Amino acid sequence: MAKVKAIRGMNDILPSSTPIWQYLERQVSTVLSSYGYNEIRMPIVEQTELFKRSIGEVTDIVEKEMYTFNDRNDESLTLRPEGTAGCVRAGEEHGLLFNQTQRFWYQGPMFRYEKPQKGRYRQFHQIGVETFGMASAEIDAELIVLSARLWKKLGILDAVTLQLNSLGSTESRQVYKADLTAFLEARFDQLDEDSQRRLATNPLRILDSKDSNTQNLLADAPVLSDYLDEDSKSHFAHLTELLDASGIRYEVNPRLVRGLDYYCKTVFEWVTDKLGAQGTVCAGGRYDGLVKQLGGKPTPAVGFAMGVERLILLLETLNAIPEEERSSFDLYLAADDKAAQQAVFALAETLRDELPSLRIRCHFAGLKNINNKARQSGAALIVLIKQTEQGPVASLWNEDALVQSDIALSALPEMINSAWQ
Ligand code: HAM
Repeated sequence: MAKVKAIRGMNDILPSSTPIWQYLERQVSTVLSSYGYNEIRMPIVEQTELFKRSIGEVTDIVEKEMYTFNDRNDESLTLRPEGTAGCVRAGEEHGLLFNQTQRFWYQGPMFRYEKPQKGRYRQFHQIGVETFGMASAEIDAELIVLSARLWKKLGILDAVTLQLNSLGSTESRQVYKADLTAFLEARFDQLDEDSQRRLATNPLRILDSKDSNTQNLLADAPVLSDYLDEDSKSHFAHLTELLDASGIRYEVNPRLVRGLDYYCKTVFEWVTDKLGAQGTVCAGGRYDGLVKQLGGKPTPAVGFAMGVERLILLLETLNAIPEEERSSFDLYLAADDKAAQQAVFALAETLRDELPSLRIRCHFAGLKNINNKARQSGAALIVLIKQTEQGPVASLWNEDALVQSDIALSALPEMINSAWQ
């Protein structure tokens, strides 16, 4: 019978990879807690309406990419394509937003029906950060500085660059949108097909068209920065000042508009040229209008989300994962004859009592080629027990060689401890 397979674009994360995921997650949560961020966990499924109202009806995500279905009660539900909308919904529902400042983070799977390729999946994982109640550029800068700190900790800072732009207020963007539309309408025939379609629905997205003809046309188009309102201009100037003072390098990219409708003022993306077409590893911006748009009181907000698969691909590409983080255990414990096998089980428990942070894997299968199997396990330390007339004794190996043989089991914890340092 044919086997049932995983859904295209939805990947298993195998035991050989999970140590790397856990390593990344640990680094992120350490950095975030050092800035006082608290984790929030939201459901994976929300009412479809939530995403339509926040991300925008005429965005690619809502138009083409959502996994939407009716439940048994005929309610339209959607697997979350991103975390911001759900985070705002949860914060509002529990009274955490109005007149308060909050710093939240979340992690987990997101779902978009995109064409799968390297770095782009239908189920992918984000670690996202959302802050509420802070209108000034300091918090925008904090988000960027903390992400830079994380890149540094992960050893990838030199491989990413920060792209920065201001979208201005909703009102100033409307004026710009009208002028850009008029400019492009006059050149409609020269636009690529996708941009022609977007002109009626979401003209700003034409700015990040990949089509070279369209890009050439845009060289003479009105530029968003000329339309910024005074408040947005001074917000952006203050942000760049703060980044300069923190030694963060950035490129101002006037074409950076982002694919979700809720942004205003600051938008940013961390991009790399090491992963091919899907080079944005982290992206976000300010969304001061969203809480109100979803029925709450006006509350300034800014956040970002990183793509975990892309970060892991980047870590792999740069060989930036510390060797010890790749393995899931430290010590392989085996017997080299049947008589001694019983000692393995009890000894492992004693060692776990005495060395609780040591990760021990016991060999409970056949004893054929046991020496080779132990070596191939990838453990930093190997203990082999053998039965003697005086009872069981152990020999201890590290990656290079035999450390000692004929060790009394009672002396083993201390010996392991010093070999493990
Ligand atoms: P986004 O740009 O749609 O923003 O996604 C953020 C990041 O998620 C991307 O930069 C990328 O690394 C990753 N990502 C997106 N789609 C995929 C995919 N199909 N496969 C793999 N990785 C993907 C948001 O989602 C906003 N909610 C970010 C935000 C938070 N803005 C403010 N707060």
